[in-house]
Amino acid sequence: MTGKIVLLPGDGIGAEVIYAAKDVLEAITKKYNKPFEFSSYDIGGVAIDNHNTPLPDETVKACKNADAVLLGAVGGPKWDNNPSDLRPERGLLGIRKALDLYANLRPVKGFKKLLHASPLKEEIIQGSDLLIVRELTGGLYFGQPSERFDNGNAVVDTLAYTRKEMERIIDKAFQSAELRNKQLTSVDKANVLESSKLWREIVEEKKADYPNVTVDHVLVDAAAMKLITNPTQFDVIVTENMFGDILSDEASVLTGSLGMLPSASLAEDGVGLYEPAHGSAPDIAGKGIANPIAMILSAAMMLRYSFNMNEEAQAIEDAVEKIVNQNYYTADLKNDNGELVNTTEMTQLIVDAI
Ligand code: NAI
Ligand code: MG
Repeated sequence: MTGKIVLLPGDGIGAEVIYAAKDVLEAITKKYNKPFEFSSYDIGGVAIDNHNTPLPDETVKACKNADAVLLGAVGGPKWDNNPSDLRPERGLLGIRKALDLYANLRPVKGFKKLLHASPLKEEIIQGSDLLIVRELTGGLYFGQPSERFDNGNAVVDTLAYTRKEMERIIDKAFQSAELRNKQLTSVDKANVLESSKLWREIVEEKKADYPNVTVDHVLVDAAAMKLITNPTQFDVIVTENMFGDILSDEASVLTGSLGMLPSASLAEDGVGLYEPAHGSAPDIAGKGIANPIAMILSAAMMLRYSFNMNEEAQAIEDAVEKIVNQNYYTADLKNDNGELVNTTEMTQLIVDAI
């Protein structure tokens, strides 16, 4: 079986790092005899320039017919003053919605040689290795009503979820915990919010289906504190949309650079979308110095979650770890004892390690 992969390079460094991921996947093909078929489509600013829309129909159609989608990043100053329907990020929100990507998975792992790049103390972040599972299609960002009333002097936003929406993300988190260290932390605000009370009930009900996973509940304010005072206590964290939005940005400081952080966005049965946590980095775009590791690790997540290729995913992750531990680094990281390399060189080192 040939895996059908759609590449959405997007803008800025998105287009530079996505071909690094492709090179790494081709190394996997060589080593494990697993063929992939690639096609590229426009999204974001480049799609606005070429098609006058951030998300052309042909892009949506190709993604729906693929096995998995790799996305670089969208956006840049060129389109900042466009009207809202001609903004690059509309393309991103649109594709997430079109593919019903309800589960956002963000692994956060501190590499030993990069601990110094984090503003947090090395002894605190040493050994941290966690996965945040964030609900992506419900909650406060989508609930209705969301409006002003009383002549604009009062507002309402709505935090709405159905049991089914909660169950599917909580199941996904239990399943992710089973693949890792079997420890799940559910984050909520059950002392105040009705939505969190139902959430907590469902987590308790689901325990019986996953007897190997230990579960604890932490209130979101306490979780925010524990993430930066004692991050090694966490394995998998599951939480609703807004809490996950906030906690995943907070957790990114554990690694030292945005250039190291991959993500996966998954649908129930359909196509998964994999992208780095960073944006299009217009300040360094075109210079060939972007760190390709977040994108490459996103491709590894794709192998694991969309293709069930665990060994191949692990091979990519091990190769990245090996090269980082050999003190090679890109310009976003600082390593006084290391060797500075550019995007192409870093990619080649990882390909060779595979
Ligand atoms: P950004 O993540 O693009 O850049 C933040 C800083 O980190 C910059 O100094 C950049 O050079 C650096 N950086 C990021 N990724 C890097 C990498 N792989 N290697 C080396 N350095 C890296 O975020 P920013 O500046 O807030 O946004 C820039 C543009 O990207 C905006 O148009 C924004 O809307 C868009 N954006 C897109 C996202 C997406 O497509 N998922 C996510 C975040 C921002
Ligand atoms: Mg955010």
